[in-house]
Amino acid sequence: MTTYQLEVIENTAKKDKPAQDQIAFGQTFTDHMYIMEYHTEKGWYDPKIVPYGPISLDPAAMIFHYGQTVFEGMKAYRTEDGRILLFRPEKNFERLNLSSERLSIPAIDEELVLEHLKQLIKLEQDWVPKTPGTSLYIRPYIISTDANLAVGPSATYKYMVILSPVGSYFTGGLKPVVIHVEDQFTRAVKGGTGMAKTAGNYSSGYQAQANAKKEGNADVLWLDGVEKRYIEEVGSMNIFFKIDGEVVTPELNGSILKGITRMSIIELLNSWGIPVTEKRMAIDELYEAYQAGKVEEVFGTGTAAVISPVGELNWQGKKMIINNHEIGELSQKLYDTITGIQTGKVEDTLGWTV
Ligand code: COI
Repeated sequence: MTTYQLEVIENTAKKDKPAQDQIAFGQTFTDHMYIMEYHTEKGWYDPKIVPYGPISLDPAAMIFHYGQTVFEGMKAYRTEDGRILLFRPEKNFERLNLSSERLSIPAIDEELVLEHLKQLIKLEQDWVPKTPGTSLYIRPYIISTDANLAVGPSATYKYMVILSPVGSYFTGGLKPVVIHVEDQFTRAVKGGTGMAKTAGNYSSGYQAQANAKKEGNADVLWLDGVEKRYIEEVGSMNIFFKIDGEVVTPELNGSILKGITRMSIIELLNSWGIPVTEKRMAIDELYEAYQAGKVEEVFGTGTAAVISPVGELNWQGKKMIINNHEIGELSQKLYDTITGIQTGKVEDTLGWTV
């Protein structure tokens, strides 16, 4: 029988929790996880919270062959008075369904999975770390599970959620990074899957990232796939610039991820009376602005790092040193405000936390 009743199977063998000052990103997982099944004939069914552990899949499961999968990334934060806050979680589930649509994966009930997520976090509340800069990273994802090598959408899926206590995404905290402007490889093209949060968008970047790292860069700046001229994303993050007093970010064009931190920064800056221009931005024009001394700040934005200042851009042998490799005033203020709202230290006037 199809059921939406959440079943909870408690883990009786609880793990020791890691020391909060030394948790590497995404390597420790909590005691429980969430699984819900899908079959075309039944819809989504049998939601369960079960002990965290390996799952069994047929070696022919479609996820292994054609990568039909989507994921999300969000965080739960501990406030000073001990409450647990989620940051705009409804936006993540909205985006999960957008990604799913692009990958021909059936939609989930956004309200139901949010309700079940809250129950999972309640059960795992002792895993939400308290030390400043830490949080519980939440990874919802859907995998295609049919044992079938025919190319086409699966008839069965698993929606799962795993939880991981995390420190700062970059060990050492907020620190401007050196970035290689990638003009050989492409992350995404218009009409492709760039706007979806799907596995292949990330693994297809590894080769470029490895090459960039060999030359001392932390990551790459992605340009558009057709002209290799227009700026898209930095690493796995959206990107912002402060140029001659104006805040600018590449416009969402179908190949750029609709970041929730990106959206929040635009809304926050607007609430401070600072307009943000979303437009196509050419790398050569950025270089011209740099040469004219107008590029004041550059920073990446994402759930994992929140804000990642860029201290240097390397483009075709030319170097752009941003703000003397120091954290810009606006980057720092945005980081402090967003993390402040997330952890309940700054008043949430925009109604973002749950
Ligand atoms: C983010 O949250 O910024 C990301 O997309 C990185 C994540 C895939 C670890």
